[in-house]
Amino acid sequence: MTKQAKYKALAGQFIRAIEAGEYQGGQPLPSLRQLSALNQVSMTTALASYRYLESLGIITADPKRGFFVNLEHNPASDIRHAQFTAQVRPLPATPPPRLRSGLATAQLDPALIDAQTLRASLTRTMKSNHTLFNYGDPLGEISLRQALVSHMKTQGFVLNEQDLIITQGCLDAVKTALELTTKEGEVIAVPSPCYTGLLDTLSVMGRQVMEIPCNQDGIDLVQMEHAMAGQQIAACLLSANFQNPTGHCLSAKQKQALARMARQYQIPVIEDDVYRELSHDGTPPLPVKHFDNDGWVLWCSSISKTLAPGLRLGWCAPGRFYNRYSDLVRVRSLGCNRPLQLALADYIGRGHYTRYLKKLNRMLALQCDQYIQMLTSQLPKNTQINRPKGGLVLWFELPNVDTKQLQAQLVEEHIYILCGDAFSTTDLYHRYVRLNFGQCLSAEVESQLTRFAQVVEQYLCQKPDKNIS
Ligand SMILES: Cc1ncc(COP(=O)(O)O)c(C=O)c1O
Repeated sequence: MTKQAKYKALAGQFIRAIEAGEYQGGQPLPSLRQLSALNQVSMTTALASYRYLESLGIITADPKRGFFVNLEHNPASDIRHAQFTAQVRPLPATPPPRLRSGLATAQLDPALIDAQTLRASLTRTMKSNHTLFNYGDPLGEISLRQALVSHMKTQGFVLNEQDLIITQGCLDAVKTALELTTKEGEVIAVPSPCYTGLLDTLSVMGRQVMEIPCNQDGIDLVQMEHAMAGQQIAACLLSANFQNPTGHCLSAKQKQALARMARQYQIPVIEDDVYRELSHDGTPPLPVKHFDNDGWVLWCSSISKTLAPGLRLGWCAPGRFYNRYSDLVRVRSLGCNRPLQLALADYIGRGHYTRYLKKLNRMLALQCDQYIQMLTSQLPKNTQINRPKGGLVLWFELPNVDTKQLQAQLVEEHIYILCGDAFSTTDLYHRYVRLNFGQCLSAEVESQLTRFAQVVEQYLCQKPDKNIS
């Protein structure tokens, strides 16, 4: 870690501890000597971190007595999101193994999926089309592209079926977009924290990342513009709607600004929009693509989060990159599974998808509330869980808990959560966890959540945070 990253990470620990109420206004902080010994950093780094907190108005320095939490500091109004200066960072050549199960995976409970109606579409398709088992259009069945654009038109998002290319899920769409807009070794801007699957994709493709900090309003567009203007990045990869893991959405104004920046600096924006239709109030927000008049946005999505990840169907509207994108898709795979595409076209075309999404979002809104209620009643009092307005995951901080260790401890009991470290190349999130609330709150899930809270509690009793006190 660079010196700059070190002092900011150290400052971040204090910000979180102060926010969690572990330090009160006026309370003294560890001396520089203590801070440096406890965290195994140099005195210079320790001092830089206090100076940084001072510049944020969080602490004050008394030349004779040391450093104190600022009396006027109001934690409630301050940083809930790690703030830092974006830097280029390499990714591991081989992504670490990821947990994919239970509370750790962002996925719907099978009981929520409209399986019966989907099966009927599959059966109907299998019976009806005599060319079903021939090659189809490598860019995707026209009936599916038409069904998708008609469906999105009802949400105020207008595309042409000729704009869309069908892919094997969203990550496949993103990977192709990255392949044709960036080269090995180049830097891609991503939000911090960022979905593990995107980090892993970038990692296997040999790209570097520049994590751009997020705040409650979404991604820090000032830093993003700075990176674009300085041509420090080859592309930007983000989700503007119900981002995984934070759940934030960019406002329409920010989406417009991002589309403008992409055009102005001629830097492609790869928009991963898999959660857009999981808007708990039933009204899906518009993507950045909607504001893109010049084709610099490559809009990628799928039905994996909303309907059936097992079908492996997604799409991309690659804008000005359409010709090169279609060449790549055509040459590589000769298209996706034809019967499944036709069945999905049947399902969407008959209006089932729209009806199902309405019901699903009502259920998810309820489930999200139930999870939060259950967790807040059992977790330590200083745990704050923000309620996302859409998506499938909760992202929250457990002050004083190293969530990597917590995750490892829970795996032994077959309880799977994802620790914050998985979502970043930095160490800013090691007290965060991400939980999927897509599973219905069965007795088994309830007991897992209860056990999760018990282990957190035990953890707090056994392991006071050495770094902070
Ligand atoms: C932001 C994001 N993009 C893409 C995916 C994967 O999408 P697909 O299964 O369609 O490839 C996920 C799955 O968790 C995700 O969270």
